[in-house]
Amino acid sequence: MSLVVFPFKEEDPEVLLRNVEVALEHPRVSEVLCVGASEDRCFEVTSAEAPSLVRRYGKPVKVILQERLGELRPGKGDGMNTALKYLLEETDHDRVHFYDADIVSFSAEWITKAEEAADEGYQVVRHYFPRSSTDAMITWMITRTGFSLLWPRSVLPWIEQPLGGELLLSREAAERLFSDPRVRRQSDWGIDTLYTFSMVAHRLSISEIYMDVGKLHKLYGALTDLKTMLIECFSALRSLKHEHVPEGTVHHIEYPGPVRQEMKEKVGYDFERTLLLLRKGWTERQADLLSLFPARVREGMLASREYPRFAFMDEETWAEVYAVLLAHFDSGDDDWKELLFKLWITRVLQYTTTVALRGYDYAMHYLHQMVARYVHRALVGGSTV
Ligand code: LAC
Repeated sequence: MSLVVFPFKEEDPEVLLRNVEVALEHPRVSEVLCVGASEDRCFEVTSAEAPSLVRRYGKPVKVILQERLGELRPGKGDGMNTALKYLLEETDHDRVHFYDADIVSFSAEWITKAEEAADEGYQVVRHYFPRSSTDAMITWMITRTGFSLLWPRSVLPWIEQPLGGELLLSREAAERLFSDPRVRRQSDWGIDTLYTFSMVAHRLSISEIYMDVGKLHKLYGALTDLKTMLIECFSALRSLKHEHVPEGTVHHIEYPGPVRQEMKEKVGYDFERTLLLLRKGWTERQADLLSLFPARVREGMLASREYPRFAFMDEETWAEVYAVLLAHFDSGDDDWKELLFKLWITRVLQYTTTVALRGYDYAMHYLHQMVARYVHRALVGGSTV
């Protein structure tokens, strides 16, 4: 039997409670755990409703606060790790599911498909779903790019949504992850990167299942909304750069289905507001740090102080930038953080105007081929673009 976990922070309690009920109705689920980041309104409403859900469904429903387990900013990582600790120390459930609390398209199918793949013997099941061609820009430009350049022979580059928060772990997988100090310390947004990394590092078998309903959730305004997430995801990845990851682990991906027109037409972020960010927040020190980068990057970025430039940040240039960031970035330094943010924006704008502009199918093919080219680059060297 399974435990279903919803980590949450300032969510709409109605959406969360509906999702809790979907989970409680499922025959494979024997308990639901909601882990709150703080005692916010959602925490209060959900805690108040829990006793009546217990009576109605005859299954335990717990609402707890996340513990301070990690060493970085207290965030989603502490929440997910608190749930693993609860599973392992307080229960004997065989499996645990994680779902983001804000999914409005959540249904029994999410749980059923994950259980079926786990029944086949996979230790980890990850949900994936269609996303707009201008969404997932951390996933593509930071995480999948980094996985390709750093561990090209592992299955890491090929994981569809390495930052996805919807997944199932067998109890054994949960034990392995929770006993890994690299996972335990990652209390911030870097947790998804660390879970993905360590499930491969620990040789767990992974099945990725396709949810064509997708995960309807709000898109972002200017890319500033993603700044903290970007920095924490890149820092997490960089902290792992000397770690070894095995080749040839078991990984199956369910073939995706047709994508609805609505998703194909969705715009991921506000282009005009994002352009403006390239001119903002410059310091002399950031300009000095640019001397570490290739000349065309330095010149392009400096020119952006006057007028936005981004055409130079193509796939090959981004790989060179990424290597400099892996070597020199400092997550405790505000100028480095701002510079990383601007470099990434430049890459996203270049991709948006040369690739995403050509349409959804073109863009999705490009992004997958980009990963393949980065893997090739890391294995064989040189430019293949
Ligand atoms: C990502 C963030 C934007 O996956 O959700 O890149």
